Amino acid sequence: MQDPILLTGGTGFIGAHTATALASAKLPFVILDNLSNSSAKVLDRLARLNASPLAFVNADVRDAQALDAVFARFKFSGVIHFAGLKAVGESVAQPLRYFDNNVNGTLQLLQAMQRAGVKKIVFSSSATVYGDPASVPIREDAALSATNPYGRSKLLCEDMLRELARVDNSWKIALLRYFNPVGAHESGLLGESPHGVPNNLMPFMTQVAMGQREHLQIFGNDYDTPDGTGMRDYLHVMDLAQGHLAALQALDAPKLLTVNLGTGQGVSVKQMVDTFARVTGVPIAHRFVARRPGDIAQCWADPTLAQQLLGWKAQLGLDRMCADAWRWQSMNPQGFDTSL
Ligand code: NAD
Ligand code: WQD
Repeated sequence: MQDPILLTGGTGFIGAHTATALASAKLPFVILDNLSNSSAKVLDRLARLNASPLAFVNADVRDAQALDAVFARFKFSGVIHFAGLKAVGESVAQPLRYFDNNVNGTLQLLQAMQRAGVKKIVFSSSATVYGDPASVPIREDAALSATNPYGRSKLLCEDMLRELARVDNSWKIALLRYFNPVGAHESGLLGESPHGVPNNLMPFMTQVAMGQREHLQIFGNDYDTPDGTGMRDYLHVMDLAQGHLAALQALDAPKLLTVNLGTGQGVSVKQMVDTFARVTGVPIAHRFVARRPGDIAQCWADPTLAQQLLGWKAQLGLDRMCADAWRWQSMNPQGFDTSL
């Protein structure tokens, strides 16, 4: 058997979907997660999908002892580092918590990797590192900036990894800048299950469609976009999962890869609402309200480099994203607490 991969944050939304992609490719993995934003029930769902980890370690990435223990127990071929907090508004209210969890967490992980002699890491970065982009589509060499502590935490992690690669040429590092991951596993057994009121568009929409929320608030219809609503690059979480496999493969020698993972298509909020209604047959009650503070008008990727360097290209369109998100939500009205 090949040496396993460590997935930090592997019971979270993107980590769990990536676990299924690894399992399909017959790549063994171990999950380490402190369950701060996920459910242990994800592990039952992974088992039903024949995607169980070799082990699940309930630990924090800031816990050096726990990291040393897991690196002593397994000989890892590399790490995919998903673990992190990701709510922009929360990061404004609790900046130091975000720096500790995301930046200190990444530092602790890198130190443990160095102690164990494991020097291959795929890092979950974000399109948020482009701040308010000067133009779209966004290339990887666009200016970087942060507009909130969450974004700053990602930029600080990127800086740390870039500097590490610059001064020590033994590391294999991929910085994957995800755009807007949505959708769910096609089985309906895995999906996004935010705690409380969803911040993101797709989970809010599916909860409105379920009747769990009265209506969607569309934040702004006066942007400089064709229909006035904000435009983003939504990509299917299973395409994103495949991007991680491609990155692991591309890290065949010490190097630093920095790539956007997006479709290259800008989609407006209104287009998303209309597509969801057409695909699922369920209209989304909505009202136009003021812009959300901190939002930008448009953000989408130039995904050319991912194709060149990783041989990766998004395959699944908006219809599939809506259909799969809706299947997940309607099969799991209580998220992972639903018994299926
Ligand atoms: P998620 O919250 O569903 O998953 C993150 C997982 O990390 C959770 O299971 C959580 O319990 C765990 N975790 C958090 N802090 C931890 C710690 N200190 N120790 C151990 N485990 C910890 O989020 P996601 O959407 O799956 O995002 C995964 C990664 O991708 C995050 O780093 C996020 O910032 C990044 N990202 C997400 C998006 C998005 O829109 N979902 C976009 C760009 C980047
Ligand atoms: C998408 C569009 C909203 C909710 C955030 C983070 C980013 C990244 C992905 C991690 C925007 C509109 C939304 C609602 C709405 N995460 N909207 N009503 O803001 O592009 O990105 O998640 O790295 O860092 O900032 O995603 O899903 O919140 O919003 O009208 O109830 O939907 O204004 O145009 P966003 P989102």
